[in-house]
This record gives sequence, C-alpha cells and structure tokens, in this order.
Amino acid sequence: MVIAIDGPAASGKGTLARRLAVHYGLPHLDTGLLYRAVAMALIDEDRSLADPDAAASAARTLDAGSLDDPRLRDRQMGEAASIVSAVPAVRAALLDWQRRFAGAPGGAVLDGRDIGTVVCPDAPVKLFITASAEERARRRHRELGGRGEAAAYEAVLDDIRRRDARDAGRDAAPLVVAADAVVIDTTALDADSAFRAATDIIDGRRAGAGQEQ
Ligand code: CDP
Ligand code: CDP
Repeated sequence: MVIAIDGPAASGKGTLARRLAVHYGLPHLDTGLLYRAVAMALIDEDRSLADPDAAASAARTLDAGSLDDPRLRDRQMGEAASIVSAVPAVRAALLDWQRRFAGAPGGAVLDGRDIGTVVCPDAPVKLFITASAEERARRRHRELGGRGEAAAYEAVLDDIRRRDARDAGRDAAPLVVAADAVVIDTTALDADSAFRAATDIIDGRRAGAGQEQ
C-alpha cells in the first residue's frame, strides 16, 4: 500500500504522514527533506542557489546521512529548497531514490508536493492536505517560536505565500491536486481530526479493494 500525501507548506501533511506510517506499519519519507538537504549542501559550500548546475550536482551526490541534520528545519532552508526544487535536473536526480523508497515490500508513506502526480502516479491512496495561508502561517509561526527561531507573523505569512506561488507556478512538477486525490482541508481540523478523516478514506479504499478481489 503506497500512500501519497501532497500539499503546501505547513498544511499538516508531515504530521499526518508520520501518524499514518505508524498506524499502518509502513516506512515514511518526508521528501521535502531531500530538497532541503540539496539547498543546505549548496549553502555549506558557499555556492549560489541560483546556479542550476551546482544544484543538480548537489542532488546527484546527496548523502542520505545528512537528512537527520536539525538545520534542515530552519526557516531559510524551506525557502532555499523551493528555489533549488524548481530545477528539473535536481528533481530528476531525486526521483529514482524516492521511487525505490516507495517500492518497499508492503508499501510506504511519502509526503511532498508531487508524490501523487509524478513520484507515485499509480498510488492507490492519494491525499492532498491543505489549509488557508493564514492558518498555515499561524502554525509555522508557533513552530518557529518553539524552536527559538521567533519571527514576525506577517513575515511568516509572506514566506508561505511566496513559497506557494513558486511551488505552484514552476514548470517542473508544480504543486497541483492530482485528479484522483482526495482533498482534506485542515483549516478547522486539529491533527487528530485530520488523522481520523484520512484513516476513514484509506480504510474505505482497502475495504472496497478487498471486495473487488
Ligand atoms: O509537513 P507540513 O509542512 O505540511 O506541516 P506539519 O509540519 O505537519 O505541521 C505544521 C504545524 O502545524 C505543526 O506544528 C503541527 O503540529 C501543526 N498542525 C496543526 O496545528 N493542525 C493540523 N491539523 C496539523 C498540523
Ligand atoms: O514542511 P514544508 O511544507 O514547509 O516544506 P517541505 O515539504 O520540507 O518542502 C520544502 C520545499 O521543497 C517546498 O517548498 C518545495 O519547493 C520543495 N519540495 C518539492 O518541490 N517537492 C517535494 N516532493 C517536496 C518538497
């Protein structure tokens, strides 16, 4: 069972993906970390984020060990990831890696922007998690405060809007709702309610698939 979860920044897709993975006993990959790690490699080497060749080379030589680095969660890394992730050669270099992960026996949960559209177009379950930009900014603002990276709410809202526009507006694997995805709007849902909505959908699908056999 492959569960593909997409959505914009701070929509709650990572929280949901982690909980679904535990619930169904599946491995989980937060694919945003791959793009963040490419951006971090460039920053650490003092290379320009706007250099597509350097970004592609960093993606090809990505060290999976760097995915645990706490700096990947920094505010600037989300922004930097969204710049390098628009480079087609970066996306191509990370695609096989993600598909191998998704091909694990028994399945996997992957979350990102293009899982249901590009990485796992045949996934039997696709969820698109969203929420208003204001609610997502409130969540990210709270989160950053908790990590000692306090920022003004308005600045966080600007970040979110800029990243939404860049991720949805790019040519390579833009953020779009897959035709067969179910949309869950979490603006008024806490993490528990979002989890229940998702398991209802997934369990319904599995029961339906069982009856067809
Ligand atoms: O992975 P993504 O950027 O989409 O979001 P997240 O990291 O799962 O969630 C961002 C923040 O919102 C976290 O602090 C979550 O605890 C919180 N959250 C929430 O308040 N309500 C939800 N329904 C889901 C997440
Ligand atoms: O947690 P949050 O949603 O803020 O960000 P993330 O999921 O870690 O993704 C960071 C950036 O990486 C996004 O803004 C996208 O530009 C890019 N990304 C992507 O292009 N494709 C993915 N499958 C995952 C992330």
